[in-house]
Amino acid sequence: MTIGGKIISLESVDSTNSLLLSDRYRLMPSGTVMTAETQTAGRGRGNKIWFSPKGGLYFSILLDAQTDLNEYNKLALMIAFAIRGQLIQYSENADMRIKWPNDILADGRKICGILTQAKTRGETSRVAVGIGINLNIAKPDFPQDMDIDPVSLSELAGEPIDKDLFLRELLDRIEKVHNDFLDGGFEKILDDINAVLFSKGREMDFSIKGRTKNFRVLGINPDATLRVYSPETGIITINIIDTK
Ligand code: BTN
Repeated sequence: MTIGGKIISLESVDSTNSLLLSDRYRLMPSGTVMTAETQTAGRGRGNKIWFSPKGGLYFSILLDAQTDLNEYNKLALMIAFAIRGQLIQYSENADMRIKWPNDILADGRKICGILTQAKTRGETSRVAVGIGINLNIAKPDFPQDMDIDPVSLSELAGEPIDKDLFLRELLDRIEKVHNDFLDGGFEKILDDINAVLFSKGREMDFSIKGRTKNFRVLGINPDATLRVYSPETGIITINIIDTK
């Protein structure tokens, strides 16, 4: 299936995820991509706002969901891995890691976030995989009160990034991993994903059902959940829907 066979490019929108999943776009083919220069109500995980100033790359991919919606947690990780692959082409010296469930951090600073949302109508479901990448955002244009220090790819690369070219290259990569996903390919790249997992073997706070707890990160499981350890709980599994 072609990802980006149809691309809808907008100047400003509330959220590319919300608009693409709205009834207005219900007849759009699977694989349609919507981009926006800015978003007025960009959404992040856990009901957070995704600040979307000009210069960032904001887009969503609309997909017909054919399987269990939990499977899309695997796709989001596969896409994160593909995005990481592209980001390091532009910034070879950065330590580019995947922070479960699907952020990308460069030297511990947030460069990309992914939000997967689904909409079910009757028997069928559609998924929007929304991707925000800090591409050409000057440091003062980021809000001051972000949870994780943000960084822009242009800062790492030392030069502005050609957004159209970057998106074209990225959609090619995403099309490949989407086909791999449909062929059940998550487990094949799981070791590679775990090799670049942020905080692997170290301790990290997780907000689970509203309570923050500290765990040692052990690795991502074949079902895309996270294996963690604390002396109090032993080894347990964290599910994306349980985290804030
Ligand atoms: C996160 O890190 O919490 C996920 C952020 C996802 C942001 C993208 S930008 C394009 C798409 N539209 C949205 O409203 N959110 C996603």
